[in-house]
Amino acid sequence: MVKPGILFGFSLLLLLGCSTATQPVLYQRLGADEGISAIVDGLLFEIEHDARIVHHFADTDISRFRAMLTEQLCELSGGPCRYSGSTMQESHTGFNITLADYDALVEGLIKVMQRQQISIADQNALLALLAPMYKDISYR
Ligand code: HEM
Repeated sequence: MVKPGILFGFSLLLLLGCSTATQPVLYQRLGADEGISAIVDGLLFEIEHDARIVHHFADTDISRFRAMLTEQLCELSGGPCRYSGSTMQESHTGFNITLADYDALVEGLIKVMQRQQISIADQNALLALLAPMYKDISYR
């Protein structure tokens, strides 16, 4: 004879398990390919209009940057892509990117996600995935 309390606890566990399993991955919550492309395009616009950081991109092949960042965000957020670009260290060494530059770019990214009405929780989930990269990108 199974005690009702144990049965209840077990059902609760099952329910909790299911609710986690049915939560779409971040990639989906960001709007999949279309949403991520829009984030990257929005970020390019922000960079272009941000006098604090635009100079870093003066000699950059923007179409490659766009393609690589799209792949990277797709893979990081659990989407069906594989990032084929350089490591963050390789691609940012020599640009003397400061923490203030890093913050400026992230500020632009947040603006874009706000405009796309991405929930605060999902914005934070993406930012949390990017945060550990700062040590390979900024030199101080
Ligand atoms: C969340 C932080 C960042 C991420 C995820 C990121 C990601 C990337 C990616 C994927 C590339 C392309 C790599 C390749 O071509 O193989 C790239 C290149 C580049 N990034 Fe970043 N980046 C970040 C922050 C920054 C910041 C803060 C700056 C400067 C303000 C910056 C400046 C550049 C430049 C100038 C290039 C092009 C390098 C070149 O022309 O070869 N990045 N980044």
